[in-house]
Amino acid sequence: PRKHKVTVIGSGNWGTTVAKLVAENTREHPDVFEEDVQMWVYEENVTIPADSPHRAAAGDQPLKLTEVINKYHENVKYLPKVPLPPNVVANPSLLDAVRDSSILIFNLPHEFIGNICKQIKGHILPFARGISCIKGVTVTEDKVELICEYIGETLGIYCGALSGANIANEIANELWCETTIAYNVPPCDSRGENGESGVNGEHYRDARGAISKTQLAPVPQEYPPVDHDVLHKLFNRPYFTVSMVSDVVGVSLAGALKNIVALACGFIEGHGWNMTAKTAVMRRGMLETIQFCQEFFPETVDEMTFWESAGWSDMIVSCTSARNWRYSKMAVERGVSLQEIERTELNGQKLQGISTTKEVMSFLKARGVQDKYPLFKAVEGIVDGTFEVKEIPVLFRQQ
Ligand code: NAD
Ligand code: 13P
Repeated sequence: PRKHKVTVIGSGNWGTTVAKLVAENTREHPDVFEEDVQMWVYEENVTIPADSPHRAAAGDQPLKLTEVINKYHENVKYLPKVPLPPNVVANPSLLDAVRDSSILIFNLPHEFIGNICKQIKGHILPFARGISCIKGVTVTEDKVELICEYIGETLGIYCGALSGANIANEIANELWCETTIAYNVPPCDSRGENGESGVNGEHYRDARGAISKTQLAPVPQEYPPVDHDVLHKLFNRPYFTVSMVSDVVGVSLAGALKNIVALACGFIEGHGWNMTAKTAVMRRGMLETIQFCQEFFPETVDEMTFWESAGWSDMIVSCTSARNWRYSKMAVERGVSLQEIERTELNGQKLQGISTTKEVMSFLKARGVQDKYPLFKAVEGIVDGTFEVKEIPVLFRQQ
């Protein structure tokens, strides 16, 4: 029997955290997974921080981030002070990192996924399966696509989604939380009575419930099937409770759209309003999120998903303690743009809400339905400087 080789594509704050927890699990399930977990790192030079215990040995000269991670087992730039298991192997070569991997975990800011897929297309196992931990959408011409849908179609594989109320630094420090994984085992991966694999070239139902154009190669019989049980083994930890569902639309869009609402909550708080105002915005934001899912993915979205970690829990945590909230609050308090804050305060980390707002609004405008989403529209206006935070209550009077 073969074991699944796992690669995490991305090594930011969340990418590194997920690599850590997955690597803990590959060690615990040596019958299912190869122990080493490849982590593709967008290579850059870093200087070990002055307060780091590695500073004395490493000195103050710039070093390659991959070399630092592999030598000191710490991502000193994106997840400082968190020891990584030695079986997380940082790799600066994308093609080398994905070679022969049967499970690919996509975990980087959504604006980079197009370029990544272009590079690895044709260089991955044809029967690889994906999980996207990315919170965002791709908008091409007049189409909005889930990130996992985009990955699956571009690479010719099946890809599910992981999303939840997950602050990377908390999970990296093993503070308990929940998450949601949405994954529909493709028909060709369900095993026959003797464990035999499905037929080459089978199709599956896509996120819109239609038969996909993608012809899948089944996961070969020598490998354990990639099903809910195997994915649970890969991601569930005592401090990270995984709930498996099949609604990839609800899980993906709740995770993407809450970043717009989180910006609104930061603006509200930066303006001087407090929790009561924020809960009004969260309620309105969740209504617009559900409306968006029902308007554009009516066939498959399940309203119960909004009661999963990927739904209300993520909305609440993102609007009270995540980066999009924290730094949009700071932008209003300092009277500077969000882009400026991202550049000066985030040390390379990204605010997904800025581009998601623009992408979602461009899609809604192309269809002439932007006025049905007053909160999303207001956030775009505030980011662009054409709408003032103090005008937000007007949106509610008009309902
Ligand atoms: P991050 O914002 O911490 O880091 C940015 C990453 O982008 C770095 O790894 C950097 O090397 C990389 N990068 C920069 N330029 C690049 C390029 N040209 N090509 C490829 N990569 C490049 O990233 P993150 O927090 O790991 O976020 C990844 C995804 O996870 C996002 O969609 C985010 O919404 C989601 N997420 C984050 C958290 C969290 O708490 N951080 C929690 C849940 C979900
Ligand atoms: P931020 O990217 O705003 O930190 O959000 C993290 C997150 O997704 C919380 O669930």
